[in-house]
Amino acid sequence: MNKIIYLDAAASALKPESVIKAQVDFLQNSYANTGRGVCARVAAADKMLADAREYVAHFIGADSVNQVIFTSGTTDGMNRIVNIVRSSRNIKSVAVSDIDHHSARMPWENVTRSGGAKLFKIPLTKNYDLDYKNMPNADVVVITAMSNVLGVPQDVPAVVAAARAKNPNVITIVDAAQYVAHKPIDVRAWDCDFMCFSGHKIGADTGVGVMYIKNPDSFSPDKFGGGMVKNISGNNWNIDSAPNKFEAGTLPLTQIAGLLVAIDAWRAWSGGADIISYIYDELSKMPRIKLLTARDAEIISFVVRDVHVLDFGALMGAHNICVRVGNMCASWIHNAMGVDGSIRISVGPWNTIDDAKYTIDVIREILK
Ligand SMILES: Cc1ncc(COP(=O)(O)O)c(C=O)c1O
Repeated sequence: MNKIIYLDAAASALKPESVIKAQVDFLQNSYANTGRGVCARVAAADKMLADAREYVAHFIGADSVNQVIFTSGTTDGMNRIVNIVRSSRNIKSVAVSDIDHHSARMPWENVTRSGGAKLFKIPLTKNYDLDYKNMPNADVVVITAMSNVLGVPQDVPAVVAAARAKNPNVITIVDAAQYVAHKPIDVRAWDCDFMCFSGHKIGADTGVGVMYIKNPDSFSPDKFGGGMVKNISGNNWNIDSAPNKFEAGTLPLTQIAGLLVAIDAWRAWSGGADIISYIYDELSKMPRIKLLTARDAEIISFVVRDVHVLDFGALMGAHNICVRVGNMCASWIHNAMGVDGSIRISVGPWNTIDDAKYTIDVIREILK
């Protein structure tokens, strides 16, 4: 098969050799379940898990490893947070926004649909940034740190501060699924209550993600089972402290072993701004293309006059170029921009300027 030019990092990143090796090494040499035995393999698996947690805590600027909970991904974390928050708080209102991914907004919208809470929206500015100066007063605020359609980092500390100014007891939840691939996360500076990201967007395997909880002691667990109980006698049990409290069951250990290696490899990448700006500038010369993103955004989204996005994606695919087309699980921002869907180009460490040149040649050919 000819080389496929993969321009879909924002959906999921390709895996570097170092991640694959780390996972194979863990499977072959250290694999065992954590915390449930005393042999050398368990000790090695326990150490790997503790190291990974410490590494991630440092990576996101957390104060303590106890604030770092491993999940299966952003969607998992965002859904779990609904139950975690509601088990300790009576939530009467929720603010979401039109730049949210379905995975960030639907879990809370579902609560409001069943009459459990009122839904508010954080308005957007004319550039589709979060208009935190007009923040609604809500018990929960969902903050998308970077839209997967627009690729612009939001001013998370300002949004959190604005939410707190309206309601000092607000719970702020940050979806950093896209942000993590482009900017350093700093949960301490953000001052958010929760934050989620997925490992697979930065070169780790699928099935592993991180949920940060600022005050894990203030919330009850949403899942019960093995590994989260401190002691048990008959029907009486005491729940362990965080992180165990929120990690019932076996963790995705192999994927966690790859995650810290993935973080390292991803951080060594310069970010691909040269590739993005080259493609952007060339697309902006094509009259049938309407760019939906800004030149300095991390990704490029566009539509083509008189060509359905699915047809365009199929034509690109026929030339071995993989782009994402459709509503990107972000239907609200597409509605706000007056389009049904878009074509998205996003790059990762494997992409080169030659990929960009070939892509532009192919688009010119398609539009002839
Ligand atoms: C902004 C944003 N939030 C959430 C998600 C969901 O991530 P996952 O599918 O890894 O759970 C994505 C994935 O595309 C995303 O881009």
